[in-house]
Amino acid sequence: MAKTLINTAVFPVAGRGTRFLPATKASPKEMLPVVDKPLIQYAVEEALAAGARKLVFVTGASKRAIEDHFDTDAELEQMLEEQGKAELAALVRVLPKYASCIYIRQPAPLGLGHAVLCAQPVVGNEPFFVHLADDLIDGTVPCLKQMATAYASKGASVLGVEEVPHSDTDKYGIVETRGTPTQISRIHGIVEKPKPANAPSNLAVVGRYVLTPEIFGHLEKIGKGAGGEIQLTDGIARLMKKQPVYAYRFQGKRYDCGSKLGYLQAQVEYGMNHAKLGGPFRQYLMELLAAGAVQSPEPAVTPSRRKKG
Ligand code: G1P
Repeated sequence: MAKTLINTAVFPVAGRGTRFLPATKASPKEMLPVVDKPLIQYAVEEALAAGARKLVFVTGASKRAIEDHFDTDAELEQMLEEQGKAELAALVRVLPKYASCIYIRQPAPLGLGHAVLCAQPVVGNEPFFVHLADDLIDGTVPCLKQMATAYASKGASVLGVEEVPHSDTDKYGIVETRGTPTQISRIHGIVEKPKPANAPSNLAVVGRYVLTPEIFGHLEKIGKGAGGEIQLTDGIARLMKKQPVYAYRFQGKRYDCGSKLGYLQAQVEYGMNHAKLGGPFRQYLMELLAAGAVQSPEPAVTPSRRKKG
């Protein structure tokens, strides 16, 4: 049984977030808030809960706000303290002292596999987490913590997976497992974004990985894959031929915050469960329902706003 603690978490945050334009024109998509915290803060908190101490952000253009967010803002903290707003001052200190942040610039948007490879010099020869902040997972036990336990029991790379509708296989890395589905299954095949007709299953990789450092050697060797990008999936497909890789069915609910609908769903459910806002927000939703405002899947269009022609 592998005892190694996983010390490093890699956050690929170089993507431009075009699906959320214009909101993401000058601001990183990872800074979009769900209720009152940006997505990247949920990501970092999950990694810290799983034991990571070294936080590696692989960044690109227009991502300075992420660095600023995790930086200490002594001036703001002092101002809030002086105003007697100690609670807010505590919220501004987003990182514990034991955590350190390292920022690496991905020179060009060459794909997720390339982004992970950019982190190699600071990850070194140790297992590490990869966390995609778009996939927000609400679990009683944080998802990466569950996966660290799975890694400790198998001593091998572990990918977070869940079943998706067959029609959606072309949005994900899809894995092939054999035999009766169990919480941890060995992967026998993995393919990036296959069309439903070619997909080996509907078991999709979500944005959570524990990878052994041997992945880097494979990422160095692969060329462009699906979508003309260097795909992490293709590196994993090579790794799998040399050492076991496992699929882990995590416990929790995933919100695809890379899509507008998934992001809205996360806002509503995190809003309903928020310690302070949950009560009044639920009340508001009940009132909407009672008023008949939530009835049809079609958006309400008032005559004055209806488009002509
Ligand atoms: C990436 C990975 C894909 C994975 C997905 C999870 O795709 O390439 O294998 O299933 O994240 O969110 P992306 O969503 O960045 O296109």
